[in-house]
Amino acid sequence: TAVTVLFGGRSGEHEVSCASAAGILTHLDRGRHRVRPVRITADGEWVPGPDDLPAAGYRPEDLARLTPARGRTAWDSLRAAVPLLGAADVVLPALHGPYGEDGTVQGLLELLGVPYVGSGVAASSAGMDKDVTKRLLAAAGLPVAASALLRGPGDGLDEAQRRRLGLPVFVKPARAGSSLGVTRVDSWDGLDGAVAAARAADGKVLVEEAVLGREVDLAVLEFPDGGLHVGPPLEIRVGRDRPFFDHDAKYRDGATRFEVPARLPAGLADRLRETALEVFEVLGCSGLLRVDFLLRDGADPVVNEVNTFPGFTAASQYPRIWAAAGMLYHELLDVLIDTALA
Ligand code: DAL
Ligand code: MG
Repeated sequence: TAVTVLFGGRSGEHEVSCASAAGILTHLDRGRHRVRPVRITADGEWVPGPDDLPAAGYRPEDLARLTPARGRTAWDSLRAAVPLLGAADVVLPALHGPYGEDGTVQGLLELLGVPYVGSGVAASSAGMDKDVTKRLLAAAGLPVAASALLRGPGDGLDEAQRRRLGLPVFVKPARAGSSLGVTRVDSWDGLDGAVAAARAADGKVLVEEAVLGREVDLAVLEFPDGGLHVGPPLEIRVGRDRPFFDHDAKYRDGATRFEVPARLPAGLADRLRETALEVFEVLGCSGLLRVDFLLRDGADPVVNEVNTFPGFTAASQYPRIWAAAGMLYHELLDVLIDTALA
């Protein structure tokens, strides 16, 4: 199979995507696949790599060597990349965040008629927007944290909203990832600064009630026969000095630990599994989904957020969950590709 791997992208999670792609390009089975990487720079230039990237251990910095041609516009580069995408048997959009995980790239691939791994336009778009995700899940009766939406610069929280949410709150850009622009606010004096920080990432800002307790991630994987499988729950244990699982805890902090399977009462584990499947169905996902839960008081689950293309380094939650279930990284990639082609 000719697999084209898209990575990088015009989002705050550009570097995270490069790390995901390094893992994917390292582990794709060259006995089964001919692999072409295409890097999208942070400025939106599409830079194709060789059409038969050899098997090797790739690091993100190796991928940065795919550098754009001088003097070319992003539009020229996309126009040149389109025939390459169209010629692939399957595209693997290893992109996180806006302009990649949000349905935009998926829309281009739909127009080209090329199969791709993961969710389609609507599910990707809904899953990228934490406000839309919450509304869809709440309408389906699934548990989410209380929140208020600030749509524009003039918007603030009135007294009733402050009382309803209580302190602390989490302030988040609606459409970003990897905790970029997210602040925990312990006093209302800190609200304006937190909203400004979130707004730097997205004009649409969520203020959420803090659900303090354990954080557990579930992985849903679609098999080529359409069957949905849920992996063992993974608990995230952040170092004690962190206010929450923030960007540094995610990518820089050796004190963050994953425990898989998480130690949970049997009834709760079943409930998380059922809810993760419902979330996949309600959002209309395809291929894969990571559903991140917070356990209020350690027991009562709410869906915190979803990732239609979750972090994909060998050490990231999603591949780790499947490794714990006995599925090797290259086997996981084969399931994703075979499902996209089914
Ligand atoms: N958005 C990042 C990549 C994650 O949640 O895994
Ligand atoms: Mg995310």
